Amino acid sequence: MKNNRKVVLFIAASLDGYIATKEDSLEWLYNIEGEGDNGLSKFYGTADTIIMGKRTYDWLLDQELESFPYKGKECYVYTRSDIPDNEDVRFARDNVAELIAELQEKPGDKIWVMGGSELIQQYLEEDLIDEITVTVAPVIIGEGIPLFREGKYHLDLELTGTETYNQFVELNYKVKRS
Ligand SMILES: NC(=O)c1ccc[n+]([C@@H]2O[C@H](COP(=O)([O-])OP(=O)(O)OC[C@H]3O[C@@H](n4cnc5c(N)ncnc54)[C@H](OP(=O)(O)O)[C@@H]3O)[C@@H](O)[C@H]2O)c1
Repeated sequence: MKNNRKVVLFIAASLDGYIATKEDSLEWLYNIEGEGDNGLSKFYGTADTIIMGKRTYDWLLDQELESFPYKGKECYVYTRSDIPDNEDVRFARDNVAELIAELQEKPGDKIWVMGGSELIQQYLEEDLIDEITVTVAPVIIGEGIPLFREGKYHLDLELTGTETYNQFVELNYKVKRS
């Protein structure tokens, strides 16, 4: 029985639609003057599960934070390597739809698909995303890792709201399904 747990893409991008430079830098994002935590904590409280790709996980580890930033959430990292789970994350592979089906079997809050775009593309192609929030940074970086890769998908969206956090604009969409 599918629970009504929404699968949400919540992500920041440059105005020209990149989520990082080709070298995985987010300097261009952190240089922008925002407001508070730019809506992150408001969203964060609505999700209890986080899914990311291994490259995004590696980027997080490279930040040398004192502790894993998403403790208390159920975190899944997609990789094709054989890596044992640790106290913070479980490693997953292959079909992204299976994990979502499994998660939706049990009650819970929103499921945050954090990215990056290799993973996002698969969620879009499997039509698994229910809501999209993109926080747009006022910067054009010309090249990098695109938020939306080419793929076999088409989503019609309904704009459900916008927020501004100083220089950032947050766009909130619901995926339309007939
Ligand atoms: N702007 C933002 O808000 C934001 C948010 C998230 C990420 N990012 C940035 O995005 C960049 C990473 O994006 P990306 O698209 O290059 O990489 P990604 O999606 O984060 O990770 C790609 C990796 O995930 C694994 N993977 C993907 N699909 C899989 C599947 N079906 N089964 C098993 N493993 C699978 C593979 O790992 P293996 O190679 O280990 O097999 C693959 O190399 C980073 O720079 C990160 O900082 C930015």
